[in-house]
Order: sequence, then C-alpha cells, then structure tokens
Amino acid sequence: MSINFKNVFYTYSEKTPFRHEALKDVSLTINDGSFTCIVGHTGCGKSTLIQQLNGLLIPTLGSVDVNGYHIEKKSKSLKKLHDLRKEVGVVFQFSEYQLFEETIEEDVAFGPINFGVKKEEAIKIAHECLETVGIPESYYKKSPFEISGGEKRRVAIAGILALQPKILVLDEPTAGLDPRGTKYILDLFKELNKQGTTIVFVTHDINIVYEYATDVIVMNEGKVVMQTVPEKLFAEDVEQYSLETPLIQKTVNLLLAKGMKLDVSKIHSLEDLVKEIARVRK
Ligand SMILES: Nc1ncnc2c1ncn2[C@@H]1O[C@H](COP(=O)(O)OP(=O)(O)OP(=O)(O)O)[C@@H](O)[C@H]1O
Ligand SMILES: [Mg+2]
Repeated sequence: MSINFKNVFYTYSEKTPFRHEALKDVSLTINDGSFTCIVGHTGCGKSTLIQQLNGLLIPTLGSVDVNGYHIEKKSKSLKKLHDLRKEVGVVFQFSEYQLFEETIEEDVAFGPINFGVKKEEAIKIAHECLETVGIPESYYKKSPFEISGGEKRRVAIAGILALQPKILVLDEPTAGLDPRGTKYILDLFKELNKQGTTIVFVTHDINIVYEYATDVIVMNEGKVVMQTVPEKLFAEDVEQYSLETPLIQKTVNLLLAKGMKLDVSKIHSLEDLVKEIARVRK
C-alpha cells in the first residue's frame, strides 16, 4: 500500500507562454508507516509534488499510485478521487487561509459531514480533534477569523485529523508556530506515526529531519536528487545539496574534532547526545 511515483512530470500553464515544468521525471517510493520528510530549496517543487498525492494535481506525464488508487491522466479511477481524499489528508502550506465556516467547530466538522457523518457526531469528532491539537474549549464557537495565525494553523490540522487519514501530508505545518507550539505539533505527528499513520512532511527545517524523519527525499529544480534515510544523508556533507547541517550534528562534529570518542551511531537526538557524552566521560 505504499506510495509510488513513476516518471512523473508536472507542467503548470501548459500551452501558454507561462509554461513551467515543476516536476521532471520524478520516480520515488514512500513506505507505509514511514515519517518521510521532503526537503529542498524554495521553488524546487515540494508543494507541487505533494499535491499529486490526493489527486489535487494530476501528473502531466507518468503516474502516481496511492493506497491502491492509480492516478494518471485519462485513468478511469480518477472518478474515485473523492474517496482517496479521506485516506490521504493534506494540510496545505498556508492552510490557515482555508478556514471558511462560521465557527471553529463547524470548520473542523466540515470534512466528516462531507463524507456522510451526521452533524452531531461530526461536531463530537471536531471537539476531540481540537483537543488533540491543543485548542481550548472556549474557542470552539469562535469565528476562525478571530484567532491568531498559529491557532488557525492548528484548527486547519484538526480539520484534516477529523477524517482520520491513513496518510497525513503536511506542507510546512510548523511555519509560523512558536517553539512550544512546534514541539507540541511535532510530537503529535510522531505519536500518530507510531500508531501507524504514514507522515509525509515538507520542511525547510533540517533539525526536524534529523530528529523525526525515518526517510528523506531531497529535491532540486523539480527533480529528486536523493531518496534515503537520515543516517545516510547526514553521513555526507549535506551542504552540497544546499542543506544546512543539523545543530546536533554540528555539535557532534565539534566534539569529535576535540577528540571526544563519541559513538555517532547512537546519537539521534539531544537526549542521545547527552547520554553519549556522559558515557564517554565516565
Ligand atoms: N500555480 C502555478 N502556476 C505556475 N507556476 C507555478 C505555480 N505554482 C508553483 N509554480 C512554480 O513551480 C515551481 C515549484 O513550485 P512549488 O510551490 O512546488 O515549490 P516549493 O518547493 O513548494 O517551494 P517553497 O519551499 O517556496 O514552498 C516554482 O518555480 C513555482 O514558481
Ligand atoms: Mg511549497
């Protein structure tokens, strides 16, 4: 049931002077149950890529297979994409601008209602999901236009969680959140991932990749330049891919240069690093 891209090309505004080839021959696999991060500089095609996952954009050439759905131009199964959108939940970049109902609870309940859940039950689901993302009860009947940007982002995430998707696709979901909010939401995604949800996570934050990803896809100018696991990516000089070295990795490198005999294979987080320093110093 994994996700497979086969020779996917995507061109915006085809047959116009504004034609832009945003994806060029992308072939990749996203494994079931993984926490896959997608990285690469601005404009390299990350958002274009993830919008192929629920059929919002259809490949100009090539095909995408997601959970048994085959997405290809002229494919007969394109009619069933409505059902696919329940299985693949996408939280878009700038999702906070997509809230539109009168109250926050109605906004979150919109998805389940759209998929046939009765209003009363949908509101109950909405309350659970709002609690999950840390929105207090006193907000439920507020207008989504009267809350802060970070709160809107959480409401948008709750709206997707309300569909209980098997695959959760997040396009820079922590952009604009404060450090505490970021950690809260990241730990939520980590927990969902532990419970079996596949997470596809677009980010510019290399430290998130270091600490959370099980798999990583590096893009450049519409192409996938690398698909690997974080351990392998960070064993290389990542700056050659225009990526930054994660903070923990930088610290490890400095300590190694000072002669500290750290076992690098044991370090995947700040806690690991502290444990490893304590072990070496004993
Ligand atoms: N609707 C559109 N029409 C024409 N070109 C577009 C459109 N949307 C995106 N593009 C172009 O396609 C390319 C890929 O855009 P995309 O939004 O996928 O990049 P991205 O990697 O998500 O960037 P960012 O990190 O800034 O979000 C860019 O060059 C962009 O200008
Ligand atoms: Mg983007």
